[in-house]
Amino acid sequence: ELGPYSHFMQKEIHEQPKALSDTIEAVLDNGFVPALFGEKAEALLPGVEGIKILACGTSYYAGLTAKYWIESIAGIQCDVEIASEYRYRDAWADPRHMVVTISQSGETLDTMEALKYAKHLGHTVALSICNVRESAIPRASELVFYTRAGAEIGVASTKAFSTQLVALFALAVTMGKVKGRVTAEQEAGYLDALRHLPGSVQHALNLEPQIRAWADLFAAKNDALFLGRGLHYPIALEGALKLKEISYIHAEAYPAGELKHGPLALVDENMPVVVIAPNDSLLEKVKSNMQEVRARGGELFVFADLDSHFSESEGVHVIRTPRHVGILSPMVHVIPVQILAYHVALARGTDVDKPRNLAKSVTVE
Ligand code: M6R
Repeated sequence: ELGPYSHFMQKEIHEQPKALSDTIEAVLDNGFVPALFGEKAEALLPGVEGIKILACGTSYYAGLTAKYWIESIAGIQCDVEIASEYRYRDAWADPRHMVVTISQSGETLDTMEALKYAKHLGHTVALSICNVRESAIPRASELVFYTRAGAEIGVASTKAFSTQLVALFALAVTMGKVKGRVTAEQEAGYLDALRHLPGSVQHALNLEPQIRAWADLFAAKNDALFLGRGLHYPIALEGALKLKEISYIHAEAYPAGELKHGPLALVDENMPVVVIAPNDSLLEKVKSNMQEVRARGGELFVFADLDSHFSESEGVHVIRTPRHVGILSPMVHVIPVQILAYHVALARGTDVDKPRNLAKSVTVE
């Protein structure tokens, strides 16, 4: 079943070009149309004036990424909340806001209960983004988008995350069209970007030997810091979660602009700092954050793009992912942090597919 791979996690990381192509297929065939989200979507989406995303763990980070797309492309408000927090607070509900749950398994108890609570508070339309057909959460939702990642066995979520991002990007553009903000030309550009995505992801997967070479350096450490900005802050969070889940190294993620507000105090030569540094409009800001780290003796491990202008220097290691892919860049930049966590865990000899204390599907509180 594992084929040439040593673990399900490694297999699932490498299945991402296929998982993405399969998930993108319906979008390429039909364009960004409400029908992608179910039969009732044509009637329901025009009434949606805002979005509330509820999820746990990695699925929550997919939601955090989506907020950037939804507010910028669709021009509607989007807030994202951890399901276990939302379900126990006196939340304010706007019935015109659609609830979007994100869950690989479709069975996560906190997400299911948060959905029920949102309905109780008056939200009338719920969309589920899910990888398992006919599971509990989509059954309780009016609308559904099934990601086509295939079965995910490793406890650490990988291909489910990248396909959730495709679903959420499709939602952002579809809502943008429904709201009359996306032109036919823009839509064609977004479709083209999606069409090229699996190829860029494959290119990122080919970096595995280079990333493996970093793993021994991390395996000897007790802590790690992940930095990103904008669309890539959630990718930093995801990288830190992957590392702590399977290698048991304490890892934290911060938006790079927050460094001076506290975490810089942690930085010294024992704290490796991973930086997600795509060639986007925030790159110059990220570079100055990197200088702050270097000035305190922190060693930098930078994931840059092929076309970004900076080079290795003392204490600055650089791996280049493919040419910058614009707004879809989080789907490419998540690949190296998944691979890094995998190889650090291997170097530390942990049970990669079944990390201690964790279950694949969290159906209890
Ligand atoms: O099945 P779900 O997407 O609802 O699961 C949510 C989280 O339990 C899950 O993403 C968890 O954080 C993973 N182990 C992360 O790798």
